[in-house]
Amino acid sequence: MCGIVGYTGSAPVAPLLIEGLKRLEYRGYDSAGIAVQEGDQLQVVHRKGKVATLAHTVDHFDFKGTCGIGHTRWATHGKPSEANAHPHTSCDGRIAVVHNGIIENFADLREELQSEGHTFSSETDTEVVAHLVERAYNGNLVEALREAAAQLVGAYGLAVTCANEPGVIAVTRKDSPIIVGKSENGAYVASDVIAMIDATRDVVVLGDGEMAKLTADAVEYFDAEGNPLSPKITHIDWDLDAAEKGGYSDFMMKEIHEQPRVIRDTLAGRLVDGALKIDELDMSAEELNLVDRVYVIACGTSYHAGLIAKNLIEGWARIPCEVETASEFRYRNPIITPTTLCVAVSQSGETADTLAAIRDAKVKGAQVFGITNVVGSPVARESDGVIYTKANKEIAVASTKSFLGQVVSLTLLAMLLAQVKGRMRMNQIRMLFRELADTAGQVEAILADTYSVDKAAEACVNAHSALFIGRGMGSAISKEGALKLKEISYLHAESYPAGEMKHGPIALLDEGFPVIAIATQSPIYDKVVSNLQEARARGALIVAVATEGDEEIQQHADHVIYIPKVRDAFSPITATVPLQLLARRIAILRGCDVDQPRNLAKSVTVE
Ligand code: M6R
Repeated sequence: MCGIVGYTGSAPVAPLLIEGLKRLEYRGYDSAGIAVQEGDQLQVVHRKGKVATLAHTVDHFDFKGTCGIGHTRWATHGKPSEANAHPHTSCDGRIAVVHNGIIENFADLREELQSEGHTFSSETDTEVVAHLVERAYNGNLVEALREAAAQLVGAYGLAVTCANEPGVIAVTRKDSPIIVGKSENGAYVASDVIAMIDATRDVVVLGDGEMAKLTADAVEYFDAEGNPLSPKITHIDWDLDAAEKGGYSDFMMKEIHEQPRVIRDTLAGRLVDGALKIDELDMSAEELNLVDRVYVIACGTSYHAGLIAKNLIEGWARIPCEVETASEFRYRNPIITPTTLCVAVSQSGETADTLAAIRDAKVKGAQVFGITNVVGSPVARESDGVIYTKANKEIAVASTKSFLGQVVSLTLLAMLLAQVKGRMRMNQIRMLFRELADTAGQVEAILADTYSVDKAAEACVNAHSALFIGRGMGSAISKEGALKLKEISYLHAESYPAGEMKHGPIALLDEGFPVIAIATQSPIYDKVVSNLQEARARGALIVAVATEGDEEIQQHADHVIYIPKVRDAFSPITATVPLQLLARRIAILRGCDVDQPRNLAKSVTVE
């Protein structure tokens, strides 16, 4: 949450900061600001609202400076306002700070600083950092930041600049990402590589407690004690296209359409000589064979991918598997032994609760395996092994392609566990793998014809609420469908296992109430159809996602969205796609911004 960016070099900094902030806007978009070194002063501009509003204001300044920092905010302490927008400055206005994270002890620090005469101009936790650096400053910005950071409790990615040190930016981090890059034209810092990828693809992912001093000609790295460090360079191999809409009207649509590629890339190289290969797990077949309990830990959409994995891991490998939201898991006392495998699923790899949960699981002795989309992210670094989902950068706040990448990765993991447990023969693995690979083409077919999705969306657009139902895999899919709809269209949506309708939710139904049912072919198809009939008898408007060739379903539904026939185990991959399209279409018809829904941010780096 929140995006920070900085540049020092030979080019005018203001346009670079604005462009960087636009690319980081997925991290927060309630206010934005920049601080630029102009002559021997710092010039700070903030605006409430999106980066476009800030950009418009900055156009009226004739900034000449070539060193500066910027921020796009998702409010934690203090409402979205101009005063609370970053950068925040010291009393004398010569030090400016941008921050991503939360300073938990800010109230005590603020009181202490105020008692010493510091005056505050915002309600934010961040402002204490500007005053702490000011108090510690003795002509060396990096040293002052080190001293300030040592007093902070919480999570932070920080970039600081000072009018007394032309061309210098000092950065540090703890539990919030900081990426540093260097090109011929200067040095860059950002919360995400996307802000600098057209300047450099070789970046340094700063570790917790590490610091860097950026100048136009060089970047120096230090550990928390100030000793010089040789940084590990990470090469980024995805394209800048990821940051562009590529002809689509919004990122969400572009990302939905990328899903066939994500499936293919996630599977590439995984079947070698007829056997599954996931070397990154870093566990031998013998060690995997000992696993007797799996926890999948995740939040939001990633949690829904976990629900799908539970069906596969228990069904194929016969290992008990529990799926838990990380925010619950971290505060209870789960049963963990050395033969417990914890699988952390996180697109961003930086979700605060997921990270805290895996740290706890490791302390308790579990093997931790990460499934993430971001190379070098905290989840990747803190797990014993990691699978990357190959979705490439996902910009829209609503997860789509990363979800399919997670489902495919978790399906591979379930097959691998079944393989090492001797519950699946090689020929079965090969057959399943082929069918899994075929889903890429099947998703393409779904994307090629959206007529029935669009019609169903028109029928639902004026509803006040919608119910998503399914059984088995369909139950997990319906949860993701409901989340997609509510987060981008602001239409209330709820998901229920279809068999639970009669235990309460059916009371909601009246004339025209949308019920979206996952009614694909499965061993419990008939049961779903019975539940549909019950809903229809109460006047509900039924939208059914069903398998091509199923004529019967038309008698029970007002709208049928057909998808290709796949085995039940792979239905989450195909059946989720029309639900993504449906949510997007309804949101567009309701005039919503599908890429940047209100109150949300792409990465939830605070509790
Ligand atoms: O980056 P993560 O996968 O850890 O994020 C978890 C959730 O915040 C995320 O899936 C969220 O629910 C999605 N934006 C929903 O579309």
